[in-house]
Amino acid sequence: MSTRRPSARRPAARRPVERSTPRPTLVERYRRFLPVTDATPALTLGEGFTPLVHARNLGRELGLDNLYLKVEGANPTGSFKDRGMVVAVSRALEAGARSIVCASTGNTSASAAAYGAAAGLEVVVVLPAGRIAKGKLLQALVAGARVVAVDGNFDAALRIVRELAERDDRPITLVNSVNPDRLEGQKTAAFEVCDDLGRAPDVLAIPVGNAGNISAYWAGFGDYLAAGLCSSRPRMYGFQAAGAAPIVLGHPVAEPDTVATAIRIGDPASWTKATAARDESDGLIEAVTDEEILAAYRDLARWEGIFCEPSSAASLAGVRKLVRSDRLGVDRDATIVCVLTGNGLKDPHTAEAQVGDVLGSEPTTEAVVAALGW
Ligand code: F0G
Repeated sequence: MSTRRPSARRPAARRPVERSTPRPTLVERYRRFLPVTDATPALTLGEGFTPLVHARNLGRELGLDNLYLKVEGANPTGSFKDRGMVVAVSRALEAGARSIVCASTGNTSASAAAYGAAAGLEVVVVLPAGRIAKGKLLQALVAGARVVAVDGNFDAALRIVRELAERDDRPITLVNSVNPDRLEGQKTAAFEVCDDLGRAPDVLAIPVGNAGNISAYWAGFGDYLAAGLCSSRPRMYGFQAAGAAPIVLGHPVAEPDTVATAIRIGDPASWTKATAARDESDGLIEAVTDEEILAAYRDLARWEGIFCEPSSAASLAGVRKLVRSDRLGVDRDATIVCVLTGNGLKDPHTAEAQVGDVLGSEPTTEAVVAALGW
């Protein structure tokens, strides 16, 4: 038997190219941790699998080598709400619901409207009048949700929808984060962070409004630890807007006010869960001012190319504040993840107020060069 040497002149054998496997859905990927069974209708808009971006420029400014951003604005409706909504709406379908209802500062309604539309459900949304970012309101309306604006804040709207959901004459599922399926779905963000880092972070920094998300992340890290998929849990650092900081103050705020309208909440539904997450993790919940939020909002876009909504920037604003006052509580080489909860495109009004005018010019190259001051 002769062995043939490959001839130099013969073209190299082509390596077989394998087609990649289909992407799983979020619910499929983390099924074992979610309240779904074979009887739960499959529903997806492509939620989850959001980027974890290494923030090298902001990290350099703060002396933090391992600062990361979890970009939740990359979800289908532009916020983290989609993780919980896909589970809540699937489960509502499974239970035979015909309608879903929510109160919202905007993102929950945009998400409920989209998933409700995909599932063929009636969607009813109750909002605080005049305080919802334009993009979010339009998302709900374009998707066909029935939107009622009330002359009151989010806390009043939540009271109303809780009562609507209890009426016997109309079977309707409440899909705010007081629905446990929502928080179950939102845990998946913690799983992704651990999967992408190969470990749990040392600190998880997150904006706090109704306090569901901080509670969901904490539960998610707990699940991963219990399953042996990570060996530690992060310290949970929650940040409220100074004008809407009931947990920081220790009492409800009757008239919350902040440029970060998504977290303009005076009496969070998951208050106790959030303080448990804070205390069990040796973490903290503090306030950041609107100025600090807007500075972080601008710098995230200008230094890292990530356009998030103002509320989202509270996480970075909080970490910055702790670093600058020397209260970070972990070493500078610690792995810190700031959750950026929603997409900046939702709130063009706030963006407009932060930027200069476009430069005007005659339609010639010379005129554009002149306009640029080159
Ligand atoms: N960031 C954004 C962009 C939000 O929309 C919210 C909450 C939060 C942070 C706070 O999360 O409430 O779980 O503590 N938005 C809700 C809504 C209240 O109606 O869209 P939380």
